[in-house]
Amino acid sequence: MSMTKKRLIPRLLQFALVIAGVYFGFVLLFDVILGALIPKSLLSMYMFFVIAGTFMVFTCTEESAREMVDPIKALVEDPSKKIVRNIVYAVLPLLAGAYIFTSLQLSFEAPVELRSIHPAPPASLKAYGKRFDLATLENPYRKLEKSDPEKFKKLVFEGGEVYIKNCQYCHGDRLDGKGPYADGLNPTPLNFQDVGTIAQLQESYVFWRIATGGPGLPKEAAPWISAMPVWEDFLSEDEIWKVILYLYDYTGMRPRSWKHE
Ligand code: HEC
Repeated sequence: MSMTKKRLIPRLLQFALVIAGVYFGFVLLFDVILGALIPKSLLSMYMFFVIAGTFMVFTCTEESAREMVDPIKALVEDPSKKIVRNIVYAVLPLLAGAYIFTSLQLSFEAPVELRSIHPAPPASLKAYGKRFDLATLENPYRKLEKSDPEKFKKLVFEGGEVYIKNCQYCHGDRLDGKGPYADGLNPTPLNFQDVGTIAQLQESYVFWRIATGGPGLPKEAAPWISAMPVWEDFLSEDEIWKVILYLYDYTGMRPRSWKHE
């Protein structure tokens, strides 16, 4: 057996340098020259082949294989290398831990789900055992706002009671979507104070959403895993129209309508 020859750069270090060189070459080529971030999965795949290929070249003869393995063997077995060995044994797990920690991307935010806030309503809806045509459906109490303001006020008040008993747990006692249950829900309960919700909608649309809730949403509005209950099961038609009056009254919004007022 011949003694392994002395080299300027030990084989194992050469091996590491080739791998590092190719890695940074890839990163340089993609990030700097092509200006496109290389996907991590693709880079891992390239690097797998590079490492495997380089390993084969570096271990193709018995002698070169021994040159690769000897320093590792020495590190593990040689009594004179005890201090280095202990340092390596301490640093390796730390490095692995640090790598995993940084790649975890810790975040307490709920994952974002892309969805349209207002899916297109169906042409008609079925509730309370009958069919409602959404194009002509109107809040039967809306006209009282002008014709009988006293009566209207009373209905708004009753709608407020329906709201506090049923809706504030999620939509909040200030209608801002910040009810006590809101934090646990995704999608979150809608904030009616926001101009993006009921202010954009007709009362017929709001009626549809309240009566049929999350399960009543159309398929194309996915991903919807909405916690909004099916209120047709708990409230009367009348109560839904009243709570709608309350939503608009409290927020000071006007429902959308096709007619000029
Ligand atoms: C268990 C929680 C919960 C309760 C209770 C609840 N909601 Fe909701 N509601 C939601 C969630 C979540 C959304 C948003 C996702 C969606 O639109 O389905 C929502 C959406 C809505 C929308 C749709 C608004 C828009 O802009 O499209 C209306 C209207 C509504 N709720 C009214 C009510 C009313 C009225 C009550 C009480 C009778 C009520 N909600 C009770 C959770 C709840």
